[in-house]
Amino acid sequence: MSIKIGDVILKHGLMLAPMAGFTDYSFRKICKEQGAEYTVSEMVSAKALCYEQRSKKAVLSDSKTAPLAAVSPEENPMAIQLFGSEPEFVAEAAAMIESREYRSCISKASPVAIDINMGCPMHKIVGNGEGSALMKNPALAAKIVEATVKALKHTPVTVKIRAGWDSNSKNAAEMAKVLEAAGASLICVHARTREQMYNPGIDIDIISAVKKAVNIPVIGNGDICTASDAVNMMKITGCDGIMIGRGALGNPWIFREISAYLDGEKYEQPSIEERLDTCLYHVDLMVENKGEYTSSAEIKKHAALYIKGVRNAASVRDRIMKAHSTAQIKALINELKGTRE
Ligand SMILES: Cc1cc2nc3c(=O)[nH]c(=O)nc-3n(C[C@H](O)[C@H](O)[C@H](O)COP(=O)(O)O)c2cc1C
Repeated sequence: MSIKIGDVILKHGLMLAPMAGFTDYSFRKICKEQGAEYTVSEMVSAKALCYEQRSKKAVLSDSKTAPLAAVSPEENPMAIQLFGSEPEFVAEAAAMIESREYRSCISKASPVAIDINMGCPMHKIVGNGEGSALMKNPALAAKIVEATVKALKHTPVTVKIRAGWDSNSKNAAEMAKVLEAAGASLICVHARTREQMYNPGIDIDIISAVKKAVNIPVIGNGDICTASDAVNMMKITGCDGIMIGRGALGNPWIFREISAYLDGEKYEQPSIEERLDTCLYHVDLMVENKGEYTSSAEIKKHAALYIKGVRNAASVRDRIMKAHSTAQIKALINELKGTRE
């Protein structure tokens, strides 16, 4: 089974889910190297991107939003995810990203798709009618998709939704139909309501219901941590692909594990040495891309996840959290490697 998004064909539909604060260039690159066929950026505010362009101060050095929408040619196929509740802003931002014609644009490529976030549960987002608040407003959600499809020359529009707003309004299947009619090319369903945030377990039947409701590809999402979780979701729901979020944090090899399973190939878990080396590589990639100051803070949460379960990790993790530079963090990872030799 394969999926087509625009001109791109994905063999198994193995995707890295968008995660604000995590799925930046360096993590997307690592997941791709470990078998993710498709990645999605952190969510980008459509309005902030548009306003930043209107500001007289929009120069590269103080641009906060534009770098989040950057795409490097080698990381395609990927999607840039936008959030917003005003169709005109989402459409304008999407068109800017497709054309790469905006101030502070550091992109060398356009993404293969623009994804629209209709799943974020955070108070400040839903309070503005954005993210999962759109699950309560299918008519507005459709207008956003229609306007965005119209504003783009060739880039497909995909949408990431939730099961519904709450247990009394699980409308993912109806919503998917509305979005398909509005021009969406693919739907990803995080099988929880907004009310459930990220716990408890998913309602897998909602993915089956969405798959039955539409003719565009449907991607299942939620709680995939192993190859058998992925294969179960595919078998039970008939979904065309799967998206993995938390299960890939500290474990980008999960994509290789799943694709080996689907291809009937042998898979060996990475050694602790390989895990720690990947962590060191991640630090270097991030510093190259974001600079020392930002990386010394942002890499800590990744490092803590790479070392999880390694002997002596608890004390090293505490010291990583207190570190002031990436050199200190690398020294601590190397120390952990040393204790294993
Ligand atoms: C830290 C974090 C940040 C997230 N940020 C986004 C985001 O920017 N856009 C989005 O659509 N979903 C976001 N999500 C939701 C994930 O994409 C995914 O739907 C959810 O975590 C369930 O999948 P999982 O069980 O594989 O993690 C985020 C989740 C987490 C844990």
